[in-house]
Amino acid sequence: MLTISEIEIALKSHSVEFKLHRVPAGVGKSVQEHLEAFGLDASQGCATLIFITNQGPVALLRRDDTKVDNKLFKQVLGINKLRMAEPEELMQIAGFEPGMVSPIGLEIPIYMDKRVLEQVAVRVGTGGNEYSLEISPNDLLKVTAAQVVDVCEVKVGDGLKRSRILTGDRPTGALHLGHYVGSVENRVKLQNEYELFYLIADIQALTDNFDNPEKVRANVLQVAQDNLACGLDPEKSTMLIQSMIPEIAELTILFMNLVTHAEVLRNPTVKAEIQDKRFGESVPFGFVAYPVSQAADINVFRANLVPVGIDQAPMIELAREIGQKFNRIYNCSIFDPKLNSLFGVERNLVGTDGDAKMSKSKGNTINLNDDAETVKAKVKTMYTDPSRIRATDPGKVEGNPVFIYHDFFNSNKEEVEDLKQRYVKGAVGDVEVKEKLANALNEFLEPIRARRADFPLDRVAEIVDAGTRRAREVAKETMAMVKEAVKINY
Ligand code: TRP
Repeated sequence: MLTISEIEIALKSHSVEFKLHRVPAGVGKSVQEHLEAFGLDASQGCATLIFITNQGPVALLRRDDTKVDNKLFKQVLGINKLRMAEPEELMQIAGFEPGMVSPIGLEIPIYMDKRVLEQVAVRVGTGGNEYSLEISPNDLLKVTAAQVVDVCEVKVGDGLKRSRILTGDRPTGALHLGHYVGSVENRVKLQNEYELFYLIADIQALTDNFDNPEKVRANVLQVAQDNLACGLDPEKSTMLIQSMIPEIAELTILFMNLVTHAEVLRNPTVKAEIQDKRFGESVPFGFVAYPVSQAADINVFRANLVPVGIDQAPMIELAREIGQKFNRIYNCSIFDPKLNSLFGVERNLVGTDGDAKMSKSKGNTINLNDDAETVKAKVKTMYTDPSRIRATDPGKVEGNPVFIYHDFFNSNKEEVEDLKQRYVKGAVGDVEVKEKLANALNEFLEPIRARRADFPLDRVAEIVDAGTRRAREVAKETMAMVKEAVKINY
């Protein structure tokens, strides 16, 4: 068994991204408690099970919301005896207590059920109760050299209702690669595990674009199309326009009574945004209040989880607190008191100019709907290593936007490795690195372009219309209960 620092070293030696989170004090050893402490659900936990077979011990990595089909596993392994290891055997083979097994450094054959790969990030054991390791399944695969198998099924029933997720975008511009790695990719995966509602937040977009309704209007179907092009599936998820659900506005008004003036002003997310946008004294009241309307977006659909980046977490806390307060004051249980954020691996993409964040207002984006020529032209202007003047100067790969993009989007890992090695030696010019990047980006965008062609704007409009109608039924149901609880059901 490896110590936590040995695990860290092992992971770093594979140069993968990972995060070690400290488990809060008082959290028990069960998987469920562990995941709950981080606001995660079972599909984001990845257990390492040790089996004894007639050919010796093997490990299987499987999601915590799935169970192993032993017969199938035996078939796949081509063996005839298979059983779970007893606690003593576990200790002997790997030095672990049950439930604490870490796949890092295990010296037996390792398999991974393919459902693990559906997640953007999973939590795996570290051998103890102090740390929680967050890693992408692909990186986990790399580190463990596991073989992918298809031997599990998702547990349904036994009280495991599919949680409902609410996610959304403000329609203020075409989505770009930063949105893709930061949220859209994750969203598309989540639709397989959850009931997913996707909200086009036009009313929220107006809170700081009230004088530019044309812009908001023009981008409503644009962001919907961007999401569809990335794989959001209208058969699986519900896409809706915020302004077409008047129940959200009604609920916002009632929610405003349940939050203090000071609480809204204190909200760290809004505070930061007010500064970023340089509103100064002229910040619209509607903008300051948008967390309350966002709480209504979430609660009107009685959502259970909201995928967000860490900076948005206070928003979701506020939504939960308002829902809980409503339940308490009006003596009902309409809203989920356990409403929580769903964190993926925090993935932020630098801009083409090397700025910490890709963002439309900074003009440093590569958009999901850029054509091949535009991508080429944008890549040509990208920042690289500023201290490198000639192709023969040794260059820096770390923190270099061009290589950051290569790592994210170039599926030809050998090519990337080769470029990096030559770059640090001063044996490759920026031109070649950029040409290869433009090709890789276009290859990455090609399937997105192909799917976009399947969703012309009139079809997008139909999809959003049907989704909005479906979502509105849920919102109406909620409002009927809400009005009864507040005694305004005349
Ligand atoms: N605030 C989100 C953004 O800026 C958009 C949004 C509006 C949202 N309502 C939501 C996200 C409800 C999740 C849940 O992108």
